[in-house]
Amino acid sequence: MKIVVLAGGTSTERDISLVTSHYVCESLRRNGHEANVLDVFYGIDDAEAIRFFLEKNDLAKLEEELKAKTAGVEAELERRKETREGFFGPNVLKLCKEADVVFMGLHGANGEDGKIQGTFELLDIKYTGTDSLSSAISMDKDLTKKVLVPNGIPMPKGIVLHKGEEFANPFYPCVVKPANGGSSVGVSIVNSEAELSKALDYAFESDDTVLVEEYVKGREFSAGVLNGEPLPVIEIVPLKGWYDYENKYADGATKHVCPAELSDEITKQMQHWAVECLKVAGVTIYGRVDMLLDENNNIFCLEINTLPGMTPTSLLPHEASEAGISFDELTQKVVELSIN
Ligand code: DAL
Ligand code: MG
Repeated sequence: MKIVVLAGGTSTERDISLVTSHYVCESLRRNGHEANVLDVFYGIDDAEAIRFFLEKNDLAKLEEELKAKTAGVEAELERRKETREGFFGPNVLKLCKEADVVFMGLHGANGEDGKIQGTFELLDIKYTGTDSLSSAISMDKDLTKKVLVPNGIPMPKGIVLHKGEEFANPFYPCVVKPANGGSSVGVSIVNSEAELSKALDYAFESDDTVLVEEYVKGREFSAGVLNGEPLPVIEIVPLKGWYDYENKYADGATKHVCPAELSDEITKQMQHWAVECLKVAGVTIYGRVDMLLDENNNIFCLEINTLPGMTPTSLLPHEASEAGISFDELTQKVVELSIN
């Protein structure tokens, strides 16, 4: 098959998307497909530069390179964001139309939020992963809670603030996060009033809607779902602090334990909630639910990721490999489920 892997984009998770897309593209090629990475922002193939650094096993250098690249073009990116020039331009659309299927290697806004999926639905372009509506519900953490909580999914309590609104009855510790975000960009744990306004400013930098939630002290887990079936649960153990951006992507900063060391009962409950979250939000094909377990063994679902990280060591691929599904089998399965 001719497959275009959509990468990069405009979100705060642009760098992660480039890495995901590189690995997905290589995997699809190993599976015999004619695959190529396509940066939706520039409309260019970015795979070669990424491969160069990954082959040298120099992830830190790659990170630097991507960061420098982003920093260097910040003003240009802003200008294009305003004018929409370049972003998802005619070249991108043409290449997507020519493909048998588009693999969604994007993360975050303008990629994971259903907008591109909706465009493809109108244009009859096949793409991987769930549809536009369930993507939109899952990308917005406020909307996700409004859909999941009335359906019995356990989630942390909290309030929603829109830009300009005051946090009327502060409570501590709390977690402040932008409604639309990923990889913990814009998220802070706030212990006192002194830290609050900085945390709110930081979250409002990413979005006009911000969630303030009770801080759940406990262990962090993630549970993937493939075609409605739960994968083994993974525990995320940051060596220090919590699972923020740094701990998510710095080499060796976090230990992943899979299958997670939990009783069968709690494992089953987590898998049940992961499947339920996707079902209620209408998410099909694959997805991952991040969760917390407090000291009294209460489970809290945090969010649904409809385009989870897809490097061979990312959470969902790691869970899949524990279930005997290799990375190449996983990318193939996602493609097959999506086109059928
Ligand atoms: N948002 C990141 C990529 C994840 O959930 O894996
Ligand atoms: Mg996420």
